[in-house]
Amino acid sequence: MALSFLQRSKTPIHARIQSDDATRLRLKYDTYYHIFEKQEGTRVWKEDREYIMLSSNDYLGLTQHPKVKEAGQKAIQQWGSSTTGARLANGGRIFHQELEEELAAFVGKEACHVFSAGYLACASSVTGFADRKDILFADKNLHSSLWSGIKLSGARCERFSHNNPRHLRELLEYEDKDDPKIFVLEGVYSMEGHIAKLPDFIDLAREFNAFVVVDDAHGFGVLGSEGRGVCNHFELSDEVDVICSSFSKSLAGSGGFVASNEDAINYMRSHSKQTIFSAALSPASCACAKEALRILQHEPEHRERLFKNLERYRSILSELGLDTWESETPAIPIVLGEKEKVYYFWKALLEKGIYTIISIAPGVPPGKDLIRTAISASHTEEDLDRIEEAMHYAKSKI
Ligand SMILES: Cc1ncc(COP(=O)(O)O)c(C=O)c1O
Repeated sequence: MALSFLQRSKTPIHARIQSDDATRLRLKYDTYYHIFEKQEGTRVWKEDREYIMLSSNDYLGLTQHPKVKEAGQKAIQQWGSSTTGARLANGGRIFHQELEEELAAFVGKEACHVFSAGYLACASSVTGFADRKDILFADKNLHSSLWSGIKLSGARCERFSHNNPRHLRELLEYEDKDDPKIFVLEGVYSMEGHIAKLPDFIDLAREFNAFVVVDDAHGFGVLGSEGRGVCNHFELSDEVDVICSSFSKSLAGSGGFVASNEDAINYMRSHSKQTIFSAALSPASCACAKEALRILQHEPEHRERLFKNLERYRSILSELGLDTWESETPAIPIVLGEKEKVYYFWKALLEKGIYTIISIAPGVPPGKDLIRTAISASHTEEDLDRIEEAMHYAKSKI
């Protein structure tokens, strides 16, 4: 047994695993994959120490909403834990269809398909439509889920500089005007908090006859009337061909969706591997998302509270002269520019009981090493007081 392990451990893959620098450094600095033993609202506990969570994307604070919890429990009672299979194979359930109809109506589209992860939905928003012969035009700072979709599609991809319609125009002018083109954008860029210059991109889409895909994971629930998202915010829902999003931000759940017109969703159901070969969204996840979507429309106080908290949080950071990369939304980076500074800032916040996340190059552009934070409607005044004190302390340490 021991001998066979030794022999097996000689494969190049074992050698790669054992000598991987990224893993060695991650384990050494212990910056990611922390385990919390308890959670209540914005507070989490690790080894009996309490922290304020400042990096989760529970923008509206609905993860602990009694109606959301109750909806999940009822769904499990009625439907069990899972439908254990892809919808193409053993069918969807009425709760999938109901959620899809409600989501489609909410974002101003005819139809929708829900997935068991936002990552799958966003990858599918590209692979479900792109063909090898198409040209994809992608913002350089897209989320990994979209890059996965782009790679899997096998189509040629041209990257334009972040949120820069002028650069996109330059790229478009090189191409044959009859080649099929797809723009891949985010509504709100997850790391930077920037809102897409959607009106300019839509003008280009009209001029160059391009199909437009927008991942609105961070705009959904935050921007637009009642949180209908970035396309509604700019009154461009009809001009964007595909809107995808995740449930793991404002909808306080797990899962995601792709919304478009009926023909396009039917087409995607025939072509996207993520749709055909992945198990359906669970009954509890579906019910929680459905309830959160209703709360979004009937309890405006959560968004009001989010924007009030955002104002105070922004003023804390700006009084300290911290660089927030011109974020316009509750996704707020604190750009420090060097990984050492980021590490000491992060550690100082942790020391003061504030939990954040580090993002360094190549995850962000060189010189933009940052602490990624997100403010939530559920942060209390006391949380914000503690965050303020901790930010002063962390600033003094770099
Ligand atoms: C812009 C964007 N798209 C897609 C996803 C994937 O969503 P999920 O985490 O729900 O799988 C995320 C999550 O971080 C995201 O930020």
